[in-house]
Amino acid sequence: MNNDKVRAAQMALERIPEKAIVGLGSGSTATVFIELLAKKAKEEHMELTCVPTSRQTEELAASLGLRVVDIDLVDHIDVTVDGADEVDDALNGIKGGGAALLFEKIVAAHSHKNIWVVDSSKKHHQLGHFKLPVEVIKFGSRHIYKYLDRHGLKPEYRLLSDGHRLSTDSDNYIIDIDIQGIEDLDGLANQLKHLTGVVEHGLFMEICDELLVGSTGEAFERK
Ligand code: 5RP
Repeated sequence: MNNDKVRAAQMALERIPEKAIVGLGSGSTATVFIELLAKKAKEEHMELTCVPTSRQTEELAASLGLRVVDIDLVDHIDVTVDGADEVDDALNGIKGGGAALLFEKIVAAHSHKNIWVVDSSKKHHQLGHFKLPVEVIKFGSRHIYKYLDRHGLKPEYRLLSDGHRLSTDSDNYIIDIDIQGIEDLDGLANQLKHLTGVVEHGLFMEICDELLVGSTGEAFERK
């Protein structure tokens, strides 16, 4: 197991109350957290209810004995622990490298606290090293692709290893775009949100409350 991911996950574990509704992120770092959480919950008889952010996370958490419920069965989520693909100094980030950005953003929106677990390679002064995932409805997606291309965003459909287009848990496509050098990310987020056929994008602005960096053991709170 990757030590940086384990350390970040352990730091997050310390922040989970004995009794809580916990949002479970997606991706490899979130997976380490879920494994540690399931072990601790069993050993310490924690009273947890978990809300997953992807089918994969749902299956993993249930297989480890965690109580998993649909998001619509809870009023709120106390704390969500998730990974991120890139994070800037203000704790804004890019997510969706694992194609789970839509459910991740919905769960985050209903969480009282959002903790991200990363290693220091994910931290950059300005976002844009990682391609920004945009989740689009399949119908008419080529038109969105062409729009993004006309705007110089170098779109690429996310593909599986067999060359077919990836379908998300909600049966949409992902188009990854290049946002390097774009300063006005709020403007970009707004522009993407208003494109008919775009379901969601991976810019997570002012969502992360606390960032835990496994490689250095540092914790940063959003100001
Ligand atoms: C999935 C995500 C993940 O949180 C992100 O890709 C980070 O994953 P990892 O911990 O494997 O680097 O946004 O949609």
